[in-house]
Amino acid sequence: MGAPDFPADQMKHAAPGEGPRVLIVASPREIAPLTAVIEDGGLSGVLALPLDSDEPLGGAQLGRARLLVLEVDPGSSASMQRLTRVAEERPGLIVIAAVRDATVSLIRTIVREGVADVVSLPFDPQEVLQATLDAMARRDGDTRPPTTLAPLLSVVRSVGGCGATTVATHLAGALAASDTSGKGALVADLDVQFGTVTDYLGLAPNGRLNDLLEAHGRLDEELLKSVVIGAGEQLSVVAAPDTIMPLEQIDTDQLLKVIQLFRQQYGMVVLDLPADWTSWTLSAAAESDAILMVVELSLPSLRQAKRRLDLFRSVGIEDSAVHIVANRVERRLFSTIDLSDVARTLSHPVLASLALEEPLVSAAQNQGQLVNAVRPKSRFATDITKLAALLRSGPLNRGG
Ligand SMILES: Nc1ncnc2c1ncn2[C@@H]1O[C@H](COP(=O)(O)OP(=O)(O)O)[C@@H](O)[C@H]1O
Ligand SMILES: [Mg+2]
Repeated sequence: MGAPDFPADQMKHAAPGEGPRVLIVASPREIAPLTAVIEDGGLSGVLALPLDSDEPLGGAQLGRARLLVLEVDPGSSASMQRLTRVAEERPGLIVIAAVRDATVSLIRTIVREGVADVVSLPFDPQEVLQATLDAMARRDGDTRPPTTLAPLLSVVRSVGGCGATTVATHLAGALAASDTSGKGALVADLDVQFGTVTDYLGLAPNGRLNDLLEAHGRLDEELLKSVVIGAGEQLSVVAAPDTIMPLEQIDTDQLLKVIQLFRQQYGMVVLDLPADWTSWTLSAAAESDAILMVVELSLPSLRQAKRRLDLFRSVGIEDSAVHIVANRVERRLFSTIDLSDVARTLSHPVLASLALEEPLVSAAQNQGQLVNAVRPKSRFATDITKLAALLRSGPLNRGG
């Protein structure tokens, strides 16, 4: 038979504390067979909520659901009103009505309420799955801007100080230099507490990330232009806030809107994420085409990397989206930990390694320069160029 399975990317927005993106609300009798499938792992990312067909459905129960499958009893005005209310109160929510013995005229009435589709009761898991996927695909097709979104790369670290910001800034520079979209690359410093991107690039920002996050209705291309700082011809930068911002102060939806704007305006977007994981950092990571995890060749670093891989898995980020980069690698014949140890410990291949070059890297950063501007033939600069090319032709390739 094969249990139906929701593709993880449909559930990408789901992060801990946000609840599932698909909610099924039906009377206990109707929902029982679905609950069994969900518990078997056949419908992942879905929550089934038993509620009689005329029982009110509150905003808290809806949570951040993106799609709702709702039982509708056409014979009960309370049930019909519940449908109308949900559709009115949550215009962005995709609603699929579950109805017993639906007639054509009934379907017409329901569809007029703004319902995306109708499925029959008793539930057929396969039908629910198909209707859900179709409705989401249609909705995505409706709202996605005509311009395709730029590839998104998130750089994360195993432990603080292992070089994530160094990698993010240098990669953004290399991706900008090889830009063919004509839109350049953007690096955004999402390390809202300890961001150092503008320090490393020697920039004095006018505006910062918080200006974008607080803009709400005013968030647009013009505002973004006033906030970004140019760092060379093709590279633009969004600075982190200049005062330490509590991580929980960031609203996930607002941040995702800001990231979407980045991806509309630039040809390539690189995010430097904070060391701590919260709902919004996970959502940003989950949105990414590729997540680069920077590790050092040390046991503490690998231990933390392993824990982060587990965390990603637990929120539906696939292993294939995560790429390990070993930084500060010394060319020594004998070292206690080598790249094959990393791959084995993490059960994950290593995409690339970057040479340790002291004091070149920090000296360049102290001058507010990228290493390749100071010493283009250095091993670190060559390693970065190679990694950028690898990413461009692989995980960040959009078939163009
Ligand atoms: N490959 C490297 N060779 C030499 N020094 C490096 C290298 N990568 C990073 N560093 C240095 O390590 C320090 C921490 O790097 P940073 O990028 O700020 O780490 P993180 O963002 O992960 O906290 C910086 O002083 C930086 O110059
Ligand atoms: Mg950093």
